[in-house]
Amino acid sequence: MATPLRVGLIGTGRIGQVHAMSVVSHPDTTLHRVADVFLEGAQKTAESFGGTATDNPDELFSAGDVDLLIIASPTSTHIDLIEKAIDAGIPALCEKPIDLDITVVDKLRDKANSTSVPIGLGFNRRFDPHFADLRARVKAGDIGALEQLLITSRDPAPAPVDYLAVSGGIFRDMTIHDFDMARYFVPDIVSVTAQGFNQFSSEIKELGDYDATAVALRGSKDELILISNSRHAAHGFDQRLEAFGTEGMLRVENLTDTNVRHYSATQVEARGPYQNFFLERYMDSYRNELEEFLKKIRGEASNTPTFEDGRMALVLANAATESAKSGTTISVSAK
Ligand SMILES: NC(=O)c1ccc[n+]([C@@H]2O[C@H](COP(=O)([O-])OP(=O)(O)OC[C@H]3O[C@@H](n4cnc5c(N)ncnc54)[C@H](O)[C@@H]3O)[C@@H](O)[C@H]2O)c1
Repeated sequence: MATPLRVGLIGTGRIGQVHAMSVVSHPDTTLHRVADVFLEGAQKTAESFGGTATDNPDELFSAGDVDLLIIASPTSTHIDLIEKAIDAGIPALCEKPIDLDITVVDKLRDKANSTSVPIGLGFNRRFDPHFADLRARVKAGDIGALEQLLITSRDPAPAPVDYLAVSGGIFRDMTIHDFDMARYFVPDIVSVTAQGFNQFSSEIKELGDYDATAVALRGSKDELILISNSRHAAHGFDQRLEAFGTEGMLRVENLTDTNVRHYSATQVEARGPYQNFFLERYMDSYRNELEEFLKKIRGEASNTPTFEDGRMALVLANAATESAKSGTTISVSAK
């Protein structure tokens, strides 16, 4: 059996914990070094999952014993850390979004696209088993030619205002997952028409942001992708996907923990609540995301989102922001 790859984890907040869990549960990886500027966070994570803790992420690049880096620190650190990983020759899986500023991304673009060091972006929803199955069926031709994709993504409740204030706005923070999902089905998007709404949160409105969005993307073969987002949903984390084609339709509905349904005098077919929030709903996808990146490191075929995928999701988010502000349709290209 091959020696497990020694993982260095940067950032031990919400998503850092998820990655630590994926690393320790995968037979081919161990958690070797953990860095967080908040030392206590790194120490707690190392105590729970293994490895040595530091408050200095640079140690992971200089130590010479990190085989794979997972970047789960705040968005503003991503580009700098990806560049350090390339320079140190360490494969790196970096959380989304790649950055909030396209000029910062473009400075690293040529280097990131020409390096032989594997770089991956954390658009985990590609690896949700249900969405992946739906996509495989679309690719297999089960619904003929794809004409429309409907993505519904509603959070149970908004994130704290101090998070939202630096999030880059709903299109770059939340819809960014859906832009990647859209491109996973229709890589070549030619235009973006978006509207932003202020339906329920005065705090979000005061930030100059929206609490709900509607986006229409046009693909180069005239495919239509519709995205509906809300920062709240009384019925829980609402994650659905529908593909419509010349020969029919495929759908993924929301998930509950069990398939048991309750029938009584007052209700029928009642189920428990939806798997609520991303840690529960997408736990499998985070594990699969790591496995997919390992395939890339091994040189096998892999659907790990690339640096360019990270960039294009941001291009679409920027176009949506501009479209919502101007009330016009924005043309986009991959160049
Ligand atoms: N893929 C997903 O589903 C998903 C979900 C949540 C967050 N994210 C992304 O992951 C990133 C982190 O989000 P989060 O919610 O875990 O944030 P968080 O605030 O919970 O955690 C961030 C951690 O990084 C640490 N940190 C801050 N600056 C650092 C630095 N320079 N070097 C090392 N560590 C540093 C903080 O102390 C904190 O522990 C963001 O880019 C976010 O968009 C992705």
